[in-house]
Amino acid sequence: MRDLLPSTVAVAVAAEDDWTGQLHEAEAACLGDRAVESRRRDFTAGRVCARRAMAALGLPPVAVPAAADRSPVWPTGTVGTITHTHGYCAAAVARREEIRAVGMDAEQHRELSAGVRRLICLPEEDEQIARLPTDVFWPAVVFSAKETVYKVWHPVVGTWLDFHDALVRLDPEAGTFTARIAPARVAEAPVDHPPALVTGRFAVEAGLVRTAATLAVR
Ligand SMILES: CC(C)(COP(=O)(O)OP(=O)(O)OC[C@H]1O[C@@H](n2cnc3c(N)ncnc32)[C@H](O)[C@@H]1OP(=O)(O)O)[C@@H](O)C(=O)NCCC(=O)NCCS
Repeated sequence: MRDLLPSTVAVAVAAEDDWTGQLHEAEAACLGDRAVESRRRDFTAGRVCARRAMAALGLPPVAVPAAADRSPVWPTGTVGTITHTHGYCAAAVARREEIRAVGMDAEQHRELSAGVRRLICLPEEDEQIARLPTDVFWPAVVFSAKETVYKVWHPVVGTWLDFHDALVRLDPEAGTFTARIAPARVAEAPVDHPPALVTGRFAVEAGLVRTAATLAVR
């Protein structure tokens, strides 16, 4: 993910040992005793990566518990994001004074079923996809971009966003995307200066779609 984010964001990608690394007590309590092995590995890799990213910023590598809605609780003065999918995991952390929010998402690069695609993509997005080269499963890129959008939106605004609440435009040449948030969601956001437009970067390689975005400090 390093290639998709500005240098003010510290990024750590999981190595083999990280999936079986150490959790802090507060994190283990969030995971619970009944988590299946795959969930335990994903959660652990995310926390180990988060601490490595904190250390890279010169911050103490403290616990990152999960809130009741499962969003990570970053230490005061920091923002961050975690993603994991089938053997890939990454975390990113930045100082809040430099970045308002950071989000990233990794997904398998594969075709979405017609039903899932309808839930994710707006007609305008389908129209753009129809004009793009066919060597990429573009709906998977739109899906990942929207998950990234939610990961910058939710920590700042605190409200739900449906997949049809963001209109994603891809620029395959530049490897960038923009997401326009539905004006109604922006208007009802209970914070000052909710993001109406999110810009980010994407990459498709080695069977993975990766997307990432930041919100600038206001
Ligand atoms: C929260 C969500 C975006 C996570 O994405 P995902 O592809 O399922 O899973 P990922 O592995 O990429 O990310 C999971 C991590 O996201 C983080 N996360 C969970 N809820 C979050 C939230 N509300 N805000 C920010 N990050 C969140 C957690 O760190 C989680 O990992 P952990 O449980 O091990 O700590 C997704 O499950 C979801 O609820 N999507 C629906 C909302 C949405 O995306 N709307 C589209 C708006 S345009």
